[in-house]
Amino acid sequence: MENNKPLGLTPAMGWNSWNTFTWDINEQLIRDVADLFVSEGYKDAGYEYIVIDDCWSLKERDSAGNLVADPAKFPSGMRALADYIHEKGLKFGMYSCVGTHTCAGYPGSFEHEFQDARLFAEWGVDFLKYDYCFKPRHISGELLYKRMSLALKNCGRDILFSACNWGEDNVYQWIRESGAHMYRSTVDIQDHWDSIKKLALSQLDKECYTGSFCHNDLDMLVVGMYGGSNNNFIASQIGGCNDNEYKTHFALWSMMGSPLMIGCDIRKANQATKDILMNKDLIAINQDLEGRGAYRIKPEPQWFHAEDVFMLVKVLSDGDIAVGFFNLSDRQREISLLFWDIGLPYASGTSLSLYDCWEQKEIGVFKERFSPVVPAHDCLVVRAKLV
Ligand code: GAL
Repeated sequence: MENNKPLGLTPAMGWNSWNTFTWDINEQLIRDVADLFVSEGYKDAGYEYIVIDDCWSLKERDSAGNLVADPAKFPSGMRALADYIHEKGLKFGMYSCVGTHTCAGYPGSFEHEFQDARLFAEWGVDFLKYDYCFKPRHISGELLYKRMSLALKNCGRDILFSACNWGEDNVYQWIRESGAHMYRSTVDIQDHWDSIKKLALSQLDKECYTGSFCHNDLDMLVVGMYGGSNNNFIASQIGGCNDNEYKTHFALWSMMGSPLMIGCDIRKANQATKDILMNKDLIAINQDLEGRGAYRIKPEPQWFHAEDVFMLVKVLSDGDIAVGFFNLSDRQREISLLFWDIGLPYASGTSLSLYDCWEQKEIGVFKERFSPVVPAHDCLVVRAKLV
């Protein structure tokens, strides 16, 4: 199914090479991912962008100043790879950097922004992730994101602009105006529960800074990695996560309106990983057209719960309400939702009919409150209908 939505309307969905493969990338891997997107159902679930991150080019530009794809990794060239991806009805993403070099030391786009944007357009690129390493001190990052945004918007092709300055320089205050469609708000994720928890908590009071055409990006997903990365930083806290933790991670990113960029090796994905990544109810919440941020409610009694036990509430465009009950703490908790707190007084005579998005079944109809018990590191996500 071809996606004809305007560029960046809802959070981007796709796959990115960095979390698992870092420098160890090549055109066969990218083709395999494209094939699996179609054959395994990722495309039908909504995933469309296949993004090559850092380490794709030679270390020097050519004599005309153009970036050159590494012929050892991409012998057929980027245009051919883009064609392959497009033939499958998918979209092709690449990576560059604000600075003189990328984070891994390849040429960056500084003072080559318009030239590089034209080259990406010629290659058939649909998405550009734009990193923040090696930025010259004399010039502001804000200006450099505006520059590349302008270059992309005038390169003759629709290219989604994915800014990646790790939440620095008060990015919330200027990124939407710059023209970027999504922006990283955090340091790099690691395949570890503490990292997932830290990133999510860091963005809880930022719900007003995300929305259609400029989405708060909490970084690529680590769902399904199980500690299997050749990236020392991402794998530095050995062990990965268990499936419940990956489930909670995916629910947080979905509810908080983050782009959903898969970071695992989908050639090896097991059924549990696929069930998480392709949960249609969670994806529907993430892709809801009004693109509202999710607000946080602290459960009663508030003095009892630390900040790692909370509810996220997202108002959906059809009048339903998505509610995530998140227990990021290390002990089982009862998390009580008083309907009053989401704008539903008892006197309204209205109840909520609750549907469990993970179990994919109706839970029942409730008046006034709903108080599930949620195990440690786990979550319950319901879609509530007024009845
Ligand atoms: C980091 C970025 C990562 C990855 C890496 C590549 O700055 O946050 O997501 O792109 O650079 O070197």
